[in-house]
Amino acid sequence: MAERGHWGSKLGFVLAAAGSAVGLGNIWKFPYITGENGGGAFVLVYLACIALVGLPVMIAEILLGRASQKSPVGAFRALGGGFWVVFGGLGVLGGFVILSYYSVVAGWAMHYTYLAISGRIVDLGPDGVVPLFGELFASNGLNLFWHTVFMALTIGVVWGGVNKGIERWARILMPVLGGLMLILLVNGLTLGGFGQALDFVFGFRTENLTAAGVLEALGHAFFTLSLGMGAMLTYGSYLSRDDDIVSSGITISVLDTAIALTACMVLFPIIFTYGMQPGEGPGLVFVSIPIALAQMPAGTFFAIVFFALLVFAALTSAISLLEVVTSYLIDEKGWLRHKATVWAGVIIALIGVPSALSGGTALFGDGFAAVFGRNWFDTFDYLATNWMLPLGGLGIALFTAWKVDDAIRRGEFQHGARLALFYRGWLLLLKFVVPVGIVLVFLHAIGVI
Ligand code: PHE
Repeated sequence: MAERGHWGSKLGFVLAAAGSAVGLGNIWKFPYITGENGGGAFVLVYLACIALVGLPVMIAEILLGRASQKSPVGAFRALGGGFWVVFGGLGVLGGFVILSYYSVVAGWAMHYTYLAISGRIVDLGPDGVVPLFGELFASNGLNLFWHTVFMALTIGVVWGGVNKGIERWARILMPVLGGLMLILLVNGLTLGGFGQALDFVFGFRTENLTAAGVLEALGHAFFTLSLGMGAMLTYGSYLSRDDDIVSSGITISVLDTAIALTACMVLFPIIFTYGMQPGEGPGLVFVSIPIALAQMPAGTFFAIVFFALLVFAALTSAISLLEVVTSYLIDEKGWLRHKATVWAGVIIALIGVPSALSGGTALFGDGFAAVFGRNWFDTFDYLATNWMLPLGGLGIALFTAWKVDDAIRRGEFQHGARLALFYRGWLLLLKFVVPVGIVLVFLHAIGVI
């Protein structure tokens, strides 16, 4: 069997893991749920969720991977076995489910990048761009085309392996992403609406905070940090014995949070300057922003920068989703990487077809929604974000805190005794705070609270 891949350096790991974390969740979803929840207080609650729930689970996942040197299923088996292995299987399933529809949204970003490059966004003007999203959503051909292109790109990277594929591309794409973000942030600073945006995102207004908002923040903490389905676990399994898990986990979480907040400070100044509403929902990035870009000086340039950024962010996340499934096939089925990558990628692409057709085909769109309450695409997103990831996170937290041998856990967590206090604090969060938080999310999801 081929030797297990390893990151070239700790920096390579941190970039790849940050690449997984930073994605559509940060740039598309976080700003729009912040807008829907009225900004301010929601952001503060979100930060608390990241620190008290997200970070402890992130450390746990990386730790399980490094300790076992296995992908999810093998990791649960090696470190405890029994019933817990189910959570590994759930993670692999999560890879199939999430990537299948994630790729469709990434495809929209690719289509908008194309529209921007062709100059169409500015040429059409603010009124002309409004119907673009509806047309795209309803077009089976465009959705299938971009979904296929995006899956092919993802397969292409994962095919190269841990070192020559994932790490190499993270080293290229993450600095580019940071640079593009900076260009857009500087642009935001020059806009009249910046002050208003700052107040919206950071001004503390408790009156807007709802219980639903708190639970949405908690659920999103899992999605945005790529937790609950073994992506961080798998990446952790390629980490060398000498690297420090705790500081890596903190760096990844801080980077992810910084990008999410920056995305807000990129988007909301534009929204406010051009007199639009922050609470537009999922259309924020694909409808409201193009309306503003169409009127902005150098609009074509900023449109290209923004949508390319979105594609790059989505790609480094998609890579990690495909890698979970790929590494499962390698570890558990003994397949070679190339075979595993192509099979996993093609099957996920096929599972994504109904998502790609959800806007233009009654069978997966309205007809599906008439029976199941949501179209296929929304059903997958709902199942993954509201159920699979929190459930996976619960399993990971309980397993790490109550089942894994303390000597192994402690050894992985700390190299010396200097972090002893942190260790106890982390365990306490995993044992009690994380499970209680997740159970509350579930109770809310089924309408009990
Ligand atoms: N964290 C990614 C984002 O914010 C999504 C993701 C979820 C990636 C789970 C991998 C695993 O877009």
